[in-house]
Amino acid sequence: MASDTKDADPLEDCLLILESGEVYRNPTEVKMSQIVLPCHANHCGELSVGQLLKWMDSTACLSAERHAGCSCITASVDDIHFEHTIGVGQVVNIKAKVNRAFTSSMEVGILVTCEDLFTNCHWKVCHAFGTFVARRTEAGKVQLKQVIPHTQAEQMEYSIAAERRRMRLIHAEIITDLLSSSTAQLGECQEFQGAVPAERTQVESVELVLPPHANHQVSTFGGQIMAWMENVATIAASRLCNAHPTLRTIDMFHFRGPSHIGDRLVLKAIVNNSFKNSMEVGVCAEAYKGGEPLRHINSAFMTFEVLDSDRKPCTLPRIRPELVDGKRRYQEAIARKKIRLDRKYIFSCKQTEVPLSVPWDLSNQMYLSYNNVSALKLLAARNNWMLSSEKNKVSLYTLEENHVLCFKIETHVNVPAEQTFHLLSDLSKRHKWDKHYEQCDVINQADEEDTIYRVATPSVSKGGKGQDFILLASRRKPCDIGDPYLIALRSVTLPTHPPTEDYTRGEVLCAGFTIWAESSTVTKISYYNQATPGVLPYISTDIAGLSSSFCSTFSSCKQYLEENRDSLAALHPSAL
Ligand code: COA
Ligand code: ADP
Repeated sequence: MASDTKDADPLEDCLLILESGEVYRNPTEVKMSQIVLPCHANHCGELSVGQLLKWMDSTACLSAERHAGCSCITASVDDIHFEHTIGVGQVVNIKAKVNRAFTSSMEVGILVTCEDLFTNCHWKVCHAFGTFVARRTEAGKVQLKQVIPHTQAEQMEYSIAAERRRMRLIHAEIITDLLSSSTAQLGECQEFQGAVPAERTQVESVELVLPPHANHQVSTFGGQIMAWMENVATIAASRLCNAHPTLRTIDMFHFRGPSHIGDRLVLKAIVNNSFKNSMEVGVCAEAYKGGEPLRHINSAFMTFEVLDSDRKPCTLPRIRPELVDGKRRYQEAIARKKIRLDRKYIFSCKQTEVPLSVPWDLSNQMYLSYNNVSALKLLAARNNWMLSSEKNKVSLYTLEENHVLCFKIETHVNVPAEQTFHLLSDLSKRHKWDKHYEQCDVINQADEEDTIYRVATPSVSKGGKGQDFILLASRRKPCDIGDPYLIALRSVTLPTHPPTEDYTRGEVLCAGFTIWAESSTVTKISYYNQATPGVLPYISTDIAGLSSSFCSTFSSCKQYLEENRDSLAALHPSAL
């Protein structure tokens, strides 16, 4: 990309020069460039999002097929946030590559940038993650070959792709749970004077699936369906504001079933709720053929804004929901708005953009767990660690980046990885090997994988106050052979446990263990920590070479693990 590129993206890789002198290019990478013509644009001269979705879907599908070597279909697309619009005459550049293959599905990362040919400026429009599934053959489900990451960025995406997949597969469940708990708390809808009746925004439109809408396997392109959905959603949104709305976000969605040439697709949309500057439009796509019953293909929720001449969002009219379903959808839209904010804030942000202490509650539990684990995976995937000191086969590494100091302590134990994981997972046992863990109590056992602890540590200075931490511990077993066990730690806040006078409240941004099975009996343990002011005093003397307390702590850890390598209690499920 040109040097005047704005908004560098993590999906953009650094150049890797191969031994042959050639520049490395990911073998699954596919690029598409399109000049935006008036036929691709809306009445404001901006590229229609529907057209962009079609291009994104085809580029990503071709990348998936390149890896799979067979035909693939779109299974789902994660949340997309559109950061900029694209004008007629500008060029859209789309780059897609497979981040990871699972069994028959693959995660494809898609980066969309825009280029102004006159000024040579480039900027990011959005990035997205699509899941594509290799079409079943007569022999059954396809087993895909694995993706082998080569660069650091590929390694990071590979590692986090497993975490994103977990979220996708439980997405529908999370939403259902959160909607039922959130809407139960909301009262009756208010009666709004002067509000626009929701029925006025209702749209129903039919499309006949013709060969140009389908791929070589006669299935309708996912991108085509998304484009039709965006079309009806835009009409519904325009009816509320009597203006040209701008699509800001599309929530994560799943193609529930296929559609083929000859299907009639019925697309229905309505404004579910309008907030001060944004509105949620819900769209439902159903298919039928002849006299067959309707098949539910997809439901999506899109957020629109209306921008004034200075590109500032305008205040929108309020909506009066229609009876029964409308009232339910109106309430659900409020709950989804909260979920969307949590997701945007916690799920799709870079670790450094999330404040240290994020309030934990049931509605953001899954996203915080995701964020916790992904942050540790990102830290572990760094390849610029510097060995700072080594003693008794315990190594201390440091990494300084963007004014943040991170450290890693690494050692090997003669204990199987699973047992090591079980023993280290229970923070309330850590005092047995770590004198800093003076006290550690379980505050909340959120689920099997997430526990919140309060940890109290002694003062570093004589007569000073001790520190306490409210820590979320998120555990993961390997997703695949070659993945580590992982225990991620980060600070959260809980209204039930505010800071007290007796302790200084410390914060942990990102810490935890990765546990790698080197053989059936030898395990490599790496402990990571991104040193916040609260953590720095415990380690800076070691890094400076004034002491080697890290070595004695991890030697004790080794001893504790080896003494308990056969402890049955550690393998008991309650030990998790
Ligand atoms: N998001 C991402 N991946 C999903 C998913 C979701 N919401 N639901 C299922 N998958 C993945 C599974 O994890 C599995 O991956 P794996 O083999 O790597 O473990 C893969 O899809 C197949 O799952 P399986 O359980 O074998 O099949 P299924 O009955 O759940 O079907 C689809 C999944 C996607 C194949 C099915 O829903 C479908 O055909 N949808 C329509 C796809 C389509 O035609 N799209 C184009 C537009 S219509
Ligand atoms: P639900 O109807 O339970 O809200 P669906 O998945 O069926 O969920 O629909 C998703 C969204 O599509 C709804 O929230 C609504 O905004 C829109 N929608 C559904 N049915 C209609 C309809 N008959 N007319 C207009 N819009 C509809």
